[in-house]
Amino acid sequence: MKERVASMSTFRRLLGYTLPYWRLIAVSLVGAVGVAASDSAIAFSVGKVLKKVFSEDSHEIAISIGPLLSTAFSVDSLSIFRLLPFALIALFLFRGVCRYIQQFCITYAGQLGVQDIRNEIYQRNMRLSLRFFNNHPTGVLMARVLNDVSMMQNGLSEVLMSIFRDTLTALGLLGLVFYLDWKLAIITLVVVPLMIFPTKIIGRHLKRLAKLGLERLSDISCILQETFSGIKVIKAFSLEDREINRFQAANLLFLNFARKTLKYQALHTPIMEVITSFGIAGVIWFGGSHVLSGQMGADAFISFVVAMGMIYSPIKKLLNVYSIIQRSLGAAERVFEIIDETPDIVDGPDALSLGRARGEVAFRDVCFAYNNEQVLSTVNLSAKKGEVVALVGPSGGGKTTLVSLLPRFYDVGSGSITIDGIDIRSLKLADLLQQIALVDQETILFNETIANNIKYGRTDASDEEVERAARAAYAHDFIMEMPDGYKTNIGDRGVRLSGGQKQRLCIARAILKNAPILILDEATSALDTESEQMVQQAINNLMSNRTTFVIAHRLSTILHADTIAVLDKGVVVERGSHQQLLESGGLYKKLYDMQFQGEGTDVRSKM
Ligand SMILES: Nc1ncnc2c1ncn2[C@@H]1O[C@H](COP(=O)(O)OP(=O)(O)OP(=O)(O)O)[C@@H](O)[C@H]1O
Ligand SMILES: [Mg+2]
Repeated sequence: MKERVASMSTFRRLLGYTLPYWRLIAVSLVGAVGVAASDSAIAFSVGKVLKKVFSEDSHEIAISIGPLLSTAFSVDSLSIFRLLPFALIALFLFRGVCRYIQQFCITYAGQLGVQDIRNEIYQRNMRLSLRFFNNHPTGVLMARVLNDVSMMQNGLSEVLMSIFRDTLTALGLLGLVFYLDWKLAIITLVVVPLMIFPTKIIGRHLKRLAKLGLERLSDISCILQETFSGIKVIKAFSLEDREINRFQAANLLFLNFARKTLKYQALHTPIMEVITSFGIAGVIWFGGSHVLSGQMGADAFISFVVAMGMIYSPIKKLLNVYSIIQRSLGAAERVFEIIDETPDIVDGPDALSLGRARGEVAFRDVCFAYNNEQVLSTVNLSAKKGEVVALVGPSGGGKTTLVSLLPRFYDVGSGSITIDGIDIRSLKLADLLQQIALVDQETILFNETIANNIKYGRTDASDEEVERAARAAYAHDFIMEMPDGYKTNIGDRGVRLSGGQKQRLCIARAILKNAPILILDEATSALDTESEQMVQQAINNLMSNRTTFVIAHRLSTILHADTIAVLDKGVVVERGSHQQLLESGGLYKKLYDMQFQGEGTDVRSKM
């Protein structure tokens, strides 16, 4: 019962998306009335026509087609008889046009509604915090937007198409059979409740299978996403066969659900037809005896049988649609689940605006956990305007986590972070993000032109500004060597660029943004000496006049930092200038000595 109520509300919600397109639906409804009317007219005429063909003169045939023709044309009966084939064609033509209008308008309305749903999912997903994306792998989200919405759409189109047309057709024919013989009509309809029962059971199974099947499909989508984007690693470790097997196994799991779904779907029509045969048998039995006893004319009987044959078809379709809609409701529930996900990091009602911040940042007693596991414990750290704070420490110490709290990718568990003395949670999120430029550990570029990739820093920047940023990032020269300069498309994941080049593009992006606060999670990838120097110089340009939090792997960055904080297991264990920390002889000294012995530049990897 509860489930039925939930289904109904999901269904209503789904249909609600088509409401803005009510004009199309209304036009379609008119088409549906046309289809239903012509179906009834055809059924009504057939009996009369047949009777006349086999018995009386042609005069009455015209009447059977409808008083319309004879009055409209007021010609003699023979001519009307000749008009009959044309009338039939005209009737079917009319029905065809109505059907076309009906089907196109309603399915298009459905398509528009579904498009809105797809946009809404994407829009809402984009607003969710990183915590959501951590818990929902990319492949899963892609599957929801693509597969789940498609399945939902299939059902919606079917139901929209069928609901008016078949209901109206069924009602029209129903009127006709009751008009012809109400007792027989009741016999005909006795079997309809029998049809509902198996339909419901099949529908329930289809809904359950749809949900499970979509889950398997999202597994497939995950594998695809992971393997295509990680193809280099797969090749390097020659794991192709393993991945192929993994894919086939996932595909097979999906097939199992698809097979069960097909079984139930294929079962529906035969069951309906067997049940229908009881109705037809009943009508022949009782109707035949009525005809024999003279209670019913042969023509009425034939009309009745034809109408009845036709009536079962829309009813069967409606019931079939019921089971299809169940599948689509299964998909819709999954889709709405994502749409209903409430963003956990949003602007408060009285969020403050902030112009350009001076750039004083303070972390006070900050604690944080991803999932119950404490990652940061009472971290205190501050930076004055223009200062450089370097974060160093063992891998997994919490450096990336600490800096990702500043742009509110996650909110602190307890404690607070302030910019210019204002708690970042009381700022408008857009304003907060305006203050921060981020160069991530991972260089993320998009399948766009170089200019556009840099413009992610500031979309309204002019070409000159883009070039100035690229020059400051030591990227201009290599960009000019590319075939189309700044207009070169760098392909998926920037495959055509070297590691150092990608880094410099990301730095150019941050320079273009020109924010007062900079977060720099230095990439660890080893660069050759020349790239290394250029990247370092680009970084120096980027850091000038900005409050910088840098997760440093390069000694040159650390030497010039105003403060170095050593983060170990989420705790700031040491803090001070390079010189002070060396003198205190703690973890930093150990790290420095190891690095010095190794003569490397990546201090972290030596720890
Ligand atoms: N998205 C996440 N969900 C759950 N736990 C996470 C997540 N990201 C990081 N962690 C955990 O938090 C801890 C700190 O990770 P963090 O990435 O902040 O370390 P790090 O100091 O930046 O390391 P590295 O120097 O290797 O980049 C680790 O134990 C890690 O397993
Ligand atoms: Mg990190």
